[in-house]
Amino acid sequence: MAEQSQPTSADRRTVLRATALGVAVAGVGVTAAACSSSNSQPQGSAAQTASVAGATGAAGGGTATVAASKVPVDSGFIDQTNRVVVTQPSSGEFKAFTAVCTHAQCTVSTISNNVIQCPCHGSQYSAKDGSVIQGPAPSPLTSKTVSVSGSTITYET
Ligand code: FES
Repeated sequence: MAEQSQPTSADRRTVLRATALGVAVAGVGVTAAACSSSNSQPQGSAAQTASVAGATGAAGGGTATVAASKVPVDSGFIDQTNRVVVTQPSSGEFKAFTAVCTHAQCTVSTISNNVIQCPCHGSQYSAKDGSVIQGPAPSPLTSKTVSVSGSTITYET
């Protein structure tokens, strides 16, 4: 007589437990992805390392400095520590803005062709005045004071 392959109650419990775990894991994954997309950008990028190494000064409420040579024309420098972006829209003209995206507070990640890019949801800002080029950012990046002394750029943090 052939043995019938009926799941035992233990088998059902195992399946149910595995399914429940699968759902739970998937739920955690979704939550983690949502958090990472709405918080700050991934840590440890080359840009962050270079930016932190290039700036000096205290975080928030003061000033920091960066060598003008670290702020390319049509591009800029992102101070990840103080969350400030310093740009040079044209030769010898320097601007500074908060690096905190006005959409969901990610730190902007790149600047090229005078466009500041947020990595989280694709917002783009002008490196000339911080205005929104592309949403979902609802408002411009706030300007910071910036001054040039010789080859050193001093900016508000
Ligand atoms: S945080 Fe959403 S686009 Fe910047």
